[in-house]
Amino acid sequence: MEGGERGYDRHVTERADVIVIGAGIIGCAIAYQLARRGAAVRLFDARAIGGGATQASAGVLAPYIESPSPGPLLDLAARSLSMYDRFISDLHQDSGIDVEYRLTGTLEVMTEPDAATHAKENVHEGGEWFDTASAVALEPSLPPTIHGAILTRAHGYVVASQLTEALTWAALRYGAEMETGRRVAAIERRGDDLEIRTDDGERWIAGRVVIAAGSWAAQVGVADRASAAVRPIRGQLIRLAWPARSPRHVLWGPDCYVVPWRDGSVLVGATVEDVGFDERTTAAGVRDLLDAGCELVPAAWGATFREARVGLRPATSDGLPIIGPSGSMPGVIYATGHYRNGILLAPVTAALVTDLILDNRFDPALQGFHPLRFSVKEGQAP
Ligand code: GLY
Repeated sequence: MEGGERGYDRHVTERADVIVIGAGIIGCAIAYQLARRGAAVRLFDARAIGGGATQASAGVLAPYIESPSPGPLLDLAARSLSMYDRFISDLHQDSGIDVEYRLTGTLEVMTEPDAATHAKENVHEGGEWFDTASAVALEPSLPPTIHGAILTRAHGYVVASQLTEALTWAALRYGAEMETGRRVAAIERRGDDLEIRTDDGERWIAGRVVIAAGSWAAQVGVADRASAAVRPIRGQLIRLAWPARSPRHVLWGPDCYVVPWRDGSVLVGATVEDVGFDERTTAAGVRDLLDAGCELVPAAWGATFREARVGLRPATSDGLPIIGPSGSMPGVIYATGHYRNGILLAPVTAALVTDLILDNRFDPALQGFHPLRFSVKEGQAP
């Protein structure tokens, strides 16, 4: 039989335990955790590592702002944030790379009296209300025209590019293989295994396939309702070099957020645009971010403009990530649709997907994110 006893032909290369499709933050984190626990992993991306939404991410770690309503997403996000210290220190050990990660706290700034009254009466868990004078004393980069702010000390940021680089080196160190510049075009069952085909005609075999392709989840070969539920939402982000002392906190205003890096760079993000797969930075996007950033932090008027970036966040039709086994193709596991929270949710997603694959353990926290929710009738449990 051509190709040996398993019946694969000569185009099929070495079998992996797990193929991960998508080398953004989620795919890299999963590849790292799987490889760390001894699995043979191969990671594919049509682009360079972290070349999709990840490279345009501000890396804000703020579950009580990004997913404030009580429910499974807030629970998952808070759990992931609580894993971050350990995640970063393990990564440092495994990669030797220092990742900039700081729990600076976030300040949600109120610029209108009505918003301030409402915010003061509805401070979320872990938040503290500061009136105008105390907020400006705490964060002197804010103008005295604000109407107060909520401080959340547990929040912060991580530099996404450094995190991706560290995950990549750590995964490589544990034997993961990277196939960048290869677009996965099809996934098919081959007995107990799965075969993927890349658009250069190569084929690859694995026991399991993880789809971590972000906005491109529907384009890698499994056409089902879960992958069809993902759509791109564009986010533009600018980076400034600050003229004086940078803000001390991550700032969250009505029209933008501001993230101060240690090197004096300040990120101002981000637009939210439903424009399909259009990955352009635009004059309107950059202008809106400049206006919003300068209004929130007037010193931004004197900043140097460094760059504008753009990424496509993977949104879903119900606003929740899709994490768990595909209902239409056994052996395929989804880890996509993280929308605004990919960087925040990377540690918990990687841990729970790894448990699912290596220990066959489906953590109850994943119940609300099961891909089958798109296939079952309303009111029926997946
Ligand atoms: N998490 C921030 C954003 O998506 O813009």
